[in-house]
Amino acid sequence: MNRLSRWLAVGLPLILAISLGLITSSGLQKAGDEALGSRKYSDYQTPAFCGIQCHNDIYQQWKQAMMSQAYTHHWDEIEYFKLAVPQAEKDPVVAGVKAGCNGCHTPLAFLAGDIPPAVPAKGTRANESVSCEVCHTITGMAGDTPFNFNWVSEPGKNKYGPRQNANSPEHNLVKSDFLAKADFCGTCHNEKSPYGVWVKSTHLEWKAGPYAEEGVKCHDCHMTYAPGKSASMGASYPDVRQHLFHGAHDPGKVRGTIELRVHPDINEASPGDKVKFTVVLFNQKTGHKFPTGSVEDRIVWLHVEAVDARGNVYHLPIDKKGFEGEEYTIAADTLAYQDMGIALNDPNFKGVQRDGVPVGDRIFRMPYFDPQGRMTIQQWNTKSQGVDYRLGPKETKIETCTFALPDTIPAGPLTVKATLYYQRLVKPVADFLGVPADETEPIEVNRHQTTINVVD
Ligand code: HEC
Ligand code: HEC
Ligand code: HEC
Ligand code: HEC
Repeated sequence: MNRLSRWLAVGLPLILAISLGLITSSGLQKAGDEALGSRKYSDYQTPAFCGIQCHNDIYQQWKQAMMSQAYTHHWDEIEYFKLAVPQAEKDPVVAGVKAGCNGCHTPLAFLAGDIPPAVPAKGTRANESVSCEVCHTITGMAGDTPFNFNWVSEPGKNKYGPRQNANSPEHNLVKSDFLAKADFCGTCHNEKSPYGVWVKSTHLEWKAGPYAEEGVKCHDCHMTYAPGKSASMGASYPDVRQHLFHGAHDPGKVRGTIELRVHPDINEASPGDKVKFTVVLFNQKTGHKFPTGSVEDRIVWLHVEAVDARGNVYHLPIDKKGFEGEEYTIAADTLAYQDMGIALNDPNFKGVQRDGVPVGDRIFRMPYFDPQGRMTIQQWNTKSQGVDYRLGPKETKIETCTFALPDTIPAGPLTVKATLYYQRLVKPVADFLGVPADETEPIEVNRHQTTINVVD
């Protein structure tokens, strides 16, 4: 090798690695897919080790958050083992997800190359899910955009966190600017499918929205500050980050996300008249869109009903607006999710009901499509997406229902009730796959009602 080619072979990659931020104190660091199998479980402490003696309060919070269940939670287990792994073993385009799902859901198993990890019932270290050591060994990320677990983990004596000069007998504290940034969360909260589609974009939605501009980050809503101690023998601080990570699995977090008011265009009407009811929905709580994250699974829908003076109930379908792709945002009696047949070895699988909510209700969603253009809940099998009809941060959307009062409607008060519901998983899919019922318990986000007077 002459000097120039040696320089090109060694020097150029080195400079590239330095400029990408991949060279750190302990050598060349790997991120994303590259990090598969680059570490051992024994490089990391268990959450019980961190929690039991020193960080008990934080440990108890984390135990109740989804972070401690990201691998063991029943729906995750079903989707990974029943759908993702079988498809990955057949379809070369998505083969990488057999390892890749674990890069976010159980990063230590991914780093240890323990693929696929044993099922949760076996009680291996994969069950630690997103553990203390996963986050507190992260030193940065590769590239400029956080996504697909492109964090860099450097296990050892140094623990990265918000404070310096408070060394514990167990470890050295190193102040990390990275952990304090939304980019840190984005390494797992943005995901690109093997087809190059953004199938999870919570961080990108936040970045494009009003909260990023105001300097309000993920931590401010999901890891709120409280006074107290962060370690049992440590000092007290006014601002200890709570490890609640409350989101979709906390009805209290979801409730009230959207403010909702309904008003009529006229206060008195007669049988045969048309009355228009307007529902105004305002996203007052989320820093990203609603719903966000696992958008392929979630369903948010607006249901409007009228009750007359004799107690008869009328379901009012939402007026169509006529935008492109709207059919995916109006609940229908139609089949979808045929691509579950790939993993289930049933190429003629007809699919299951698309929505499982009353026909004619408005759905706030963005549909995901498989390579054949059919709606899918398999984000790794997503090649394109449809209209994005979700509620952005601080966005107001207006929906209307036009009710032609039946000739038989009795005189007296007519009450119109509008209710917005959120469900974590489309019910027909959950029923088909045997996902426990708590995953499909509808959460009432908000409701409001108004009354008009029917006169003869
Ligand atoms: C202004 C407050 C606020 C900010 C900032 C914020 N969130 Fe949220 N987030 C919420 C609320 C409220 C919910 C509950 C409603 C919902 O599910 O969207 C939520 C829900 C979530 C969910 C569950 C979504 C679902 O439907 O499964 C995730 C994941 C999440 N947030 C992550 C993040 C991340 C990552 C960031 C930063 C990039 C962030 N959030 C910034 C308020 C916020
Ligand atoms: C999903 C990532 C994540 C997980 C999991 C996690 N943490 Fe944290 N932790 C953070 C972030 C982010 C901060 C705050 C960083 C900042 O504000 O600069 C933090 C802060 C802390 C602090 C410092 C609190 C203070 O104010 O002094 C301690 C101690 C801590 N975590 C311990 C733990 C323990 C113990 C566990 C496991 C039971 C755990 N963490 C799990 C991300 C995580
Ligand atoms: C190492 C990957 C990783 C990092 C880093 C990470 N998360 Fe998560 N987070 C996850 C996974 C995986 C889940 C899904 C758990 C499950 O299976 O439901 C999740 C779930 C959540 C939820 C939803 C909980 C619910 O009730 O549904 C919130 C909120 C959240 N994370 C916030 C954050 C915030 C804020 C940060 C940054 C401070 C962060 N996450 C950093 C992997 C991560
Ligand atoms: C880039 C990180 C990342 C990758 C890769 C990833 N996930 Fe997730 N996953 C998350 C996060 C973050 C959430 C939580 C989002 C939310 O709360 O809406 C989540 C949520 C889920 C949920 C819904 C959990 C619930 O409680 O409702 C399932 C199921 C799931 N993932 C399965 C998988 C499977 C299977 C794969 C591989 C094909 C995979 N994930 C790959 C980060 C990831």
